[in-house]
Amino acid sequence: MSITLLAIESSCDDTSAAVMRDGILLSNVTASQAVHEMYGGVVPELASRAHQQNIVPVVDAALKQANIEKSELSAIAVTLGPGLMGSLLVGVSFAKGLAASLGIPLIDVNHLHGHILAHFIQTPDDKKEVPPYPFLCLLVSGGNSQIVKVNSHNNFEVLGQTIDDAAGEAIDKCSKVMGLGYPGGPIIDRMARQGNPRAFSFAKPNLPGYDYSFSGLKTSFLYFLRDKVAENPNFIENNKNDLAASLEATIIEILMKKLKKAAQDIGIKHVALAGGVSANSALRKAFQDMEDKGVWKIYIPKFSYTTDNAAMIAMSGHYRYLDGEFCSLDKPAFSRTVF
Ligand code: KG4
Repeated sequence: MSITLLAIESSCDDTSAAVMRDGILLSNVTASQAVHEMYGGVVPELASRAHQQNIVPVVDAALKQANIEKSELSAIAVTLGPGLMGSLLVGVSFAKGLAASLGIPLIDVNHLHGHILAHFIQTPDDKKEVPPYPFLCLLVSGGNSQIVKVNSHNNFEVLGQTIDDAAGEAIDKCSKVMGLGYPGGPIIDRMARQGNPRAFSFAKPNLPGYDYSFSGLKTSFLYFLRDKVAENPNFIENNKNDLAASLEATIIEILMKKLKKAAQDIGIKHVALAGGVSANSALRKAFQDMEDKGVWKIYIPKFSYTTDNAAMIAMSGHYRYLDGEFCSLDKPAFSRTVF
């Protein structure tokens, strides 16, 4: 009998639904929320309201695109956390209600496992090479920066993580200081391609082990701009491409240094990238360089599976279904980062 899952993701500001049959993705529909742009960051209350508006049409579209009736579903997988509580509650309540009304099991998925397992998503016309276990994964998003040793689909060892800001958060905040739009990542990426990555230098942390820190860099960037703008009010405008390139280069240097050390120390050559910041072209190039030098075999997800999406929740849900890992309807959503 085939396993047909509906997956729902609503942990931050993307409402997404996907349908997967026997581990093959049939649809993945995401509604993003433009409402946050004018605030320079996600406003939790607005995010949960937008999820409420989007969830029914997004789920309906995912089922229609997959050509699947609700009665054919074997289970519903949903992101239980981590994320914004108000946002999570919309997807979780919807999933619980639908599972109860259809009389099918609910599967709780950890959003971070989803990002990593996005590497295993296959579609009917795109069978891609998947990483062999164990592999290392650099998970970098707006809320996370972790180096994870992935021993199997249900065994994740966090080797290092940020002790303060996430990499994406630092990029978004620095972009805001420069007066650029939100989210800053894609804008900084675009501008950095025209700039000199060595034009300016900013503070780099000196933490032991594999942990990251980005708050010192953010403060150093802020004070640097404050002093330069005091001398020349047009400093940011005149140097924005070089600022973007130098900031991006600093963040990538910090990320790659620890990742390379971890890979070398534990002798792993299969290295994957996951999370929203993995869309960054310079970070992808830094990975590609390691493969070109013959040091690593790299795995980079498709753009559509880097930012928040339900396809990755369906993938994790599929493995959990196979393991018989179902969840009771009274299990609550959680906001804190737990692996
Ligand atoms: O994974 P994601 O969609 O959401 C979270 O779970 O956080 O990641 C969003 C983050 C934002 O910080 C955004 O600025 C960053 O990913 N991002 C990028 C790029 N595209 C998105 N950062 C750098 N370069 C990009 N091209």
